[in-house]
Amino acid sequence: MTKSIGVGLIGNGFMGRAHANAWGAVNRFFTVKRHARMKTVAGLSEKRVGEFAARWGFDESTIDWRSMLEDDEIGLIDVTTENNKHAEMSVAALESGRNVCCEKPMAGTLEEARAMRNAARKASRRGLHAWVWFNYRRCPAVAFAHQLVKRGKLGRIFHVRAQYLQDWGGPDTPLLWRFIGKHAGSGAHGDLNAHIIDMARFVTGDELTEVTGAIEETFIKERRLVEGVGGPISGKGASRGKRMGRSTVDDCLMFMGRMKQGAVASFEATRLATGNQNANRLEINGEKGSLRFDFERMNALEWWDNTIDPGLRGWSRIMCTDADTHPYVENYWPAAHLIGYEHCFTSMCSDILRVLAGNKPVVPLPDFEDAYQTQRVLHAALLSAREKRPVKMSEVK
Ligand SMILES: NC(=O)c1ccc[n+]([C@@H]2O[C@H](COP(=O)([O-])OP(=O)(O)OC[C@H]3O[C@@H](n4cnc5c(N)ncnc54)[C@H](O)[C@@H]3O)[C@@H](O)[C@H]2O)c1
Repeated sequence: MTKSIGVGLIGNGFMGRAHANAWGAVNRFFTVKRHARMKTVAGLSEKRVGEFAARWGFDESTIDWRSMLEDDEIGLIDVTTENNKHAEMSVAALESGRNVCCEKPMAGTLEEARAMRNAARKASRRGLHAWVWFNYRRCPAVAFAHQLVKRGKLGRIFHVRAQYLQDWGGPDTPLLWRFIGKHAGSGAHGDLNAHIIDMARFVTGDELTEVTGAIEETFIKERRLVEGVGGPISGKGASRGKRMGRSTVDDCLMFMGRMKQGAVASFEATRLATGNQNANRLEINGEKGSLRFDFERMNALEWWDNTIDPGLRGWSRIMCTDADTHPYVENYWPAAHLIGYEHCFTSMCSDILRVLAGNKPVVPLPDFEDAYQTQRVLHAALLSAREKRPVKMSEVK
C-alpha cells in the first residue's frame, strides 16, 4: 500500500494556489511511493481559507497555523506566506518534527535565514528535510542546461549573465507588502535576484567568491495605501485609498560578481523594465559553447555549438520536450507537447515525495543549506550597494 504524507499548507494567496494545484496534481501525474494528502490549509480569514480548502481539495482549514504542528497526520509544512514569516514558521515546524518546504527568498534577512539553516541542521539529525521553492530549476530547459554544463559541453565558462525583468511595479501599483521592508526584507532583489542567483549556481555548479558594483534604486518612493484585498502581485483590483505610504525596498538591484572557477557574472532584477513581463533570463558563455534561457519561452533552450565548422555555427533552439531534454517528460504529455509554469511546481512536489520515500530527486532540490548560500549572495549584494564597495563572500558568514 502507498503510504501518504499529510501536507499542511500555510498561506492561500498566489503561491498558496500554485502549491495547492501542485499537491493535487502530483499523485495523478507521478507514480510516487508516498502520496501527498492535502490535509490542512491555514490562512488569515476563516471564510476565505474555508472556501480555498473546498476548492483545492484540502480536508480542513484553519486560521491557526500552529495547530497544524500538533496534528499527527501532518508530516510536511509548506510555507507560502510573506518573507518575514518564513523563519518563524519554518523553525517552529522543524522543531515540531515536521519536514518543511518554504517559499523563496529563504527569508527577509540573512539572520533569519541562518536561524532556519541551523534549525534544519538540527532537524536533519532526526531524519527531517527542509527545502526552498526555487521552482525554476525544474523548467526542463534549466535542468537540461545544468546537464549540459555537467557533461562539459560548454568547457571553461567565461560569462554568466542573469536578468529577471518584470514591469508591474509602476507608480500605479499600490503599497503591497512587497514594497514594505519589514515584510519583504528587500524588493526586486530578494524577490527576483534570489531566483537567478539560485539558477546561476545550479546551472554552473559554481559559487560566487566576490560581489561588486551593486546599484540599488527605489524609483517610486511613495505608493497609495491599499484598502481591502487586491489581486495577485500587482495589486490590480485592490481599492486604493487617498493616503500615500513610503516604499522601503528597492525597485531594482543590479550587481556583478566573480565565480570560483574564474567566470565573471552579472545579475539584474527589476520590476520597472517596461515591456518585460516575466523575463527570467540566463545566458552562459563558455569556450566550447553558449546557452541561453528565457522563461517567457520556457520550453526552449538556445544553444551555440562552438566546436563545429565555423561556417555552420549559429544559435539553435532546442525544444526541451522529449526524453533527451525533459527530465519529467514521461509523467506529463507525449513528447513535443508543451508544459507551463505550474508543472515546475508539480515536478518539485514529486521530487520532495521521492526524497521523503528515501529516493534521490530527479533534479537536485535546494535544501536550506543550499538556499542559505543564495541568501549570502543576496546579503553581499546589499552590502556592496549600500557601502559602495566590493564584498568578498568570505566576509558574509
Ligand atoms: N517561487 C515563485 O516563483 C514565487 C512567486 C511569487 C511569490 N513567491 C513567494 O511566495 C511567498 C508568498 O507570496 P504570494 O505572492 O503568494 O503572496 P500573497 O500575498 O498572495 O499570499 C500570502 C498569503 O499568506 C497568508 N498569510 C499571511 N500570514 C499568515 C498567517 N499567519 N497564517 C496563515 N496564512 C497567512 C495570507 O493570507 C496570504 O494568503 C513570498 O515569500 C514570495 O516571495 C514565490
